[in-house]
Amino acid sequence: MRFEIGPVAAIVAVCAPLVSAAPPVHADHVVKPRAHKPNRSSYSFSSMTSTRYATPLPTSSPVTTYMPAASMKAIMPSGVKTTTWNKNEASASDWDNPYGQAEWNRRWATFMPNVSISTFSVTTTVQATPVPSSSLVMPPPAGFSYSDAPNAKDYTFPKDFIVGVASSAGQIEGAIQDEGRTPSVLDYFNFNAGQAPDYITDWNYYFYKQDIARIAAMGVPYYSFSISWTRILPFAGAGTPVNKEGIDHYNDLINTCLEYGVKPMVTIVHADEPYEFVMDGGNVTRSYLSTNSGAANGTFVDSFVYYSRILFAEFGDRVPIWITINEPYYESGNLEGMYNFLEAHTQVYDLYKSMGGKGMVSYKNADNFGVPLDPNNQEDVKATNRYQDYLLGIMSNPTWLGKDVPESVTSTCTNESRALSPETLARYKGKSDFYAVDPYTATFVFPPDDGIDACAKDPNHSLWPNCVNTTSISSNGWEIGFYSNSYPYLTPKYFRAFMNYIWDTYQPQAIMVSEFGFPVFAEAEAELASQLNDLPRSLYYEAFLTEILNCIHEDGINIIGAIGWSMLDNWEFGSFDEHYGMQVVNQTTQERYFKRSFFDFVDFFHSHGL
Ligand SMILES: *[C@@H]1O[C@H](CO)[C@@H](O)[C@H](O)[C@H]1NC(C)=O
Ligand SMILES: *[C@@H]1O[C@H](CO)[C@@H](O)[C@H](O)[C@H]1NC(C)=O
Ligand SMILES: *[C@@H]1O[C@H](CO)[C@@H](O)[C@H](O)[C@H]1NC(C)=O
Ligand SMILES: *[C@@H]1O[C@H](CO)[C@@H](O)[C@H](O)[C@H]1NC(C)=O
Ligand SMILES: *[C@@H]1O[C@H](CO)[C@@H](O)[C@H](O)[C@H]1NC(C)=O
Ligand SMILES: *[C@@H]1O[C@H](CO)[C@@H](O)[C@H](O)[C@H]1NC(C)=O
Ligand SMILES: *[C@@H]1O[C@H](CO)[C@@H](O)[C@H](O)[C@H]1NC(C)=O
Ligand SMILES: *[C@@H]1O[C@H](CO)[C@@H](O)[C@H](O)[C@H]1NC(C)=O
Repeated sequence: MRFEIGPVAAIVAVCAPLVSAAPPVHADHVVKPRAHKPNRSSYSFSSMTSTRYATPLPTSSPVTTYMPAASMKAIMPSGVKTTTWNKNEASASDWDNPYGQAEWNRRWATFMPNVSISTFSVTTTVQATPVPSSSLVMPPPAGFSYSDAPNAKDYTFPKDFIVGVASSAGQIEGAIQDEGRTPSVLDYFNFNAGQAPDYITDWNYYFYKQDIARIAAMGVPYYSFSISWTRILPFAGAGTPVNKEGIDHYNDLINTCLEYGVKPMVTIVHADEPYEFVMDGGNVTRSYLSTNSGAANGTFVDSFVYYSRILFAEFGDRVPIWITINEPYYESGNLEGMYNFLEAHTQVYDLYKSMGGKGMVSYKNADNFGVPLDPNNQEDVKATNRYQDYLLGIMSNPTWLGKDVPESVTSTCTNESRALSPETLARYKGKSDFYAVDPYTATFVFPPDDGIDACAKDPNHSLWPNCVNTTSISSNGWEIGFYSNSYPYLTPKYFRAFMNYIWDTYQPQAIMVSEFGFPVFAEAEAELASQLNDLPRSLYYEAFLTEILNCIHEDGINIIGAIGWSMLDNWEFGSFDEHYGMQVVNQTTQERYFKRSFFDFVDFFHSHGL
């Protein structure tokens, strides 16, 4: 049975009359003021800040092997060529080689003609310097507590709870043309006027060692990052040659994590699918579900499996957690793309397990919890379940329940829907070790003006195909939560409801909050010192983490981890103004600074048993 959202307990406002007949009485004011001390000299000032430093990780943690060496060898496809390409060989003419330097050059020339790609002054890997204790001083007390959950004060996280911070290659690496990389669909943002390009971003391609050292200095045990597909396979597809420099880069990144005692959680693709998959369609416009990143290309599944095979063969021994695909709904383009993601994910999951992989594998579900505008209105409830059917159900029905894609999807996107056979559904079922979800916020859902049915029949309808309308304003006029610089609102209670919805609807054995975070309003416009004292972000994390404890202890939901987005401010798909980071990055100097939220995030776990 599906979890239906029940009516929220009615809030009855009892308004006291503004003018009271009786004069105010203070009969109960019995507190006796203390006697004055003799004069000002007896007053002493105390410091509100402390020099309690962040606790770094132990660096000599034992390294577990997650895939046997023999499997890694066996998994490598035969006949794979490993080579290099160089952006400075503009006059190459090895056209007889379909994967040669000339073809590599052509990828850039046809994709970004006349574009001069800027770079940062540093162009080799920078060794980490120790993080000075002066940047690890705890911030002053925040002066608030998310305290309407009195029990949560005493609740603790399970000992093996996964605590981490996240990033993704396309949003932090920069160096887009260096060491063999070819264009990804994200590079399309570089063409649109008014949007910031991804040429430099956080220059993490060369600063990763320092970034890992900083995570370790703050005592964060997991780092969730993604690998850039076009750095590993510049020509993307099955059978194409491997880029040695890409492999070396991520090998060193993973080894650097281990050296600092940080466990790597690796996403195989996070929004930066190779341009190769849309090369002949020529354009990454929005398709009817979401951005078209090439998933619907007929070569996608085989290519993704081949790419994953190479990652497992190279890095499988050292990676405990693999995410196959980031938020498939938002990268699929259309239903065809979703079917490809389902198939690709399942094949990669099976491959990993067949090679004796001992780590965990999942994909990450899209963010945003839909709640009915009026929980007592069945049309709103229906619209809400439909909203969730699209965002979560297309992947989750087959993966978690062994059921076909929801009927609300197949009966609407008729031209691309296919009935998945019982054999296929049996093969898809259970192919995820935990339910990964990025529950940033919540939104109210209700039907279109002309109703769901009329919309579903009309592909020209502005809300087709999911055919639901959304708003952040509740039916009684209040905004859903404290606002930010973008779509996330601070909605901890809805977060808890979301965890319950997932637990009952898809019945996973475990849930991981694989991304959550808050872009503080107008943070980018503030002075550095003010950016660093990012109270709303701390409040967001404290509130959500408290609700995670409530989910675990009061609702009996097995939440196994919480990964904060993001490790640092980064390139938010065409903008540097959406600050989700727990560190500031100066875009001129590339210097990093810890924000207070980073300390508060880590401290919350320390004060709850970890
Ligand atoms: C303040 O009070 C103390 C204790 O009575 C006294 O010793 C001191 O002289 C006073 N200081 C001033 C500035 O009056
Ligand atoms: C690139 O520059 C050439 C020469 O200036 C020009 O002919 C061509 O139209 C430009 N291409 C684009 C896509 O702007
Ligand atoms: C699909 O991907 C292949 C590479 O795997 C590419 O050659 C082809 O052009 C792509 N199709 C379209 C329509 O872009
Ligand atoms: C992509 O297509 C859209 C809509 O057709 C068009 O406005 C845009 O200029 C195209 N972008 C590129 C890079 O070709
Ligand atoms: C299916 O229909 C939608 C809506 O008209 C359209 O955007 C899409 O391109 C169609 N898909 C195919 C494969 O024709
Ligand atoms: C969506 O809701 C808004 C009110 O919040 C309304 O103005 C608009 O017409 C609705 N759109 C559709 C297509 O129903
Ligand atoms: C959608 O709009 C197009 C272009 O205006 C039109 O040709 C087509 O008939 C419309 N389709 C439907 C189902 O109304
Ligand atoms: C970044 O660094 C430059 C050079 O030191 C400085 O002028 C600028 O104010 C800094 N930006 C911020 C936001 O602090």
